[in-house]
Amino acid sequence: MGSARFSRCRTMEALVAIFCVLGMISLCCATRMESGSRQKLEVQKHLRRLNKPAVKTIESPDGDLIDCVHMSHQPAFDHPFLKDHKIQMRPSYHPEGLFDENKVAEKASEKPNPINQLWHVNGKCPDGTIPIRRTKHEDVLRASSVKRYGRKKHRSTPIPPRSAEPDLINQSGHQHAIAYVEGDKYYGAKATMNVWEPSIQQPNEFSLSQLWILGGSFGEDLNSIEAGWQVSPDLYGDNNTRLFTYWTSDAYQATGCYNLLCSGFIQINSDIAMGASISPVSAYRNSQYDISILVWKDPKEGHWWMQFGNGFVMGYWPSFLFSYLADSASMIEWGGEVVNSEPNGQHTSTQMGSGHFPDEGFGKASYFRNIQVVDGSNNLKPPKGIGTFTEQPDCYDVQTGSNGDWGHFFYYGGPGRNPNCQ
Ligand SMILES: *[C@@H]1O[C@H](CO)[C@@H](O)[C@H](O)[C@H]1NC(C)=O
Ligand SMILES: *[C@@H]1O[C@H](CO)[C@@H](O)[C@H](O)[C@H]1NC(C)=O
Repeated sequence: MGSARFSRCRTMEALVAIFCVLGMISLCCATRMESGSRQKLEVQKHLRRLNKPAVKTIESPDGDLIDCVHMSHQPAFDHPFLKDHKIQMRPSYHPEGLFDENKVAEKASEKPNPINQLWHVNGKCPDGTIPIRRTKHEDVLRASSVKRYGRKKHRSTPIPPRSAEPDLINQSGHQHAIAYVEGDKYYGAKATMNVWEPSIQQPNEFSLSQLWILGGSFGEDLNSIEAGWQVSPDLYGDNNTRLFTYWTSDAYQATGCYNLLCSGFIQINSDIAMGASISPVSAYRNSQYDISILVWKDPKEGHWWMQFGNGFVMGYWPSFLFSYLADSASMIEWGGEVVNSEPNGQHTSTQMGSGHFPDEGFGKASYFRNIQVVDGSNNLKPPKGIGTFTEQPDCYDVQTGSNGDWGHFFYYGGPGRNPNCQ
């Protein structure tokens, strides 16, 4: 009996132990499943915030879904300060200047070609709606965290040496080749840049060409409005060249984002989608395609407006998003930027612009032409005292010039890694 009870006891013990182990396993699985589903929920919540109900959806040949969202349902209106905002359907004033793209194009021997967004082949958005590139599950999953999706990972404004501490210049591997002006009050900038599809060595790198409208110091409170084209596999999941904007009012820390990936920019245009692919792009020794971008501060309302191409007024960044830029900009920059993550300890072979050096000239090198600034009287003016800056001219370089048709211009870019850039 004694031994029988003993053995029953042992059996009970063994059973308890087994249940214990099973319990622990299931508990542990539950915790893992819980954190998995918590992330899933977080992603879904974020997607619901970003992707507004669409009136119509257009499928682009590149796989993008373009949602036509009613203008008053766009992400901007999630901003607490914009709850009662009345959309301004047009700027009060438009800056006037010397270089009208159409006139320049007619005169120039090198005629640029019209440029489009790829999704247009499959339809247009109805009036009263704006096209928004839908964010997919996998787009968010590629980001380091749900919160960081759509934001720059690092400070990424080129800091020309005159303005900066030398140790600020090499910023997390970001490399630039730019032209810039500073030392005045600026109320906008304009440029026409040709569009390329630079090759990117690693998905965590990118290559872009843009203008920067800057206010404040290069410390924690930098205000920046940025617009141009970019190739960014991490952000978009492919190597296509895309139209983009960015803004921040605290040096890329807590505020701002790309495109419409946070509330801020108010879009009024129903033809052009931020973050959508641009097509076609320029080819080496072949057809050149360029886009014009104008950003200016409306003297009446004080908002910063953006125009794409010849007359697509995209919308505006309300002035209250900014501190310094609520008044004016103190610096304008134009040019290219790449991330050099130094794969294998060597300089990246990610290209900037066309991937060719400036001295190759038209049809081969990438350019910005007719670069202008907007002055205090809302006039477009040639920039005075243009400086240039590049961290490593043997990797990516910049060369300025001026003539009648192109006004102030510069060629910029390069291949990255080469015998002189290791
Ligand atoms: C930045 O880094 C590169 C390569 O690491 C170096 O050659 C260059 O001198 C640095 N520039 C400055 C201004 O420190
Ligand atoms: C992007 O280009 C790189 C090489 O330049 C290639 O390895 C990669 O597969 C491409 N990614 C996509 C999504 O096409």
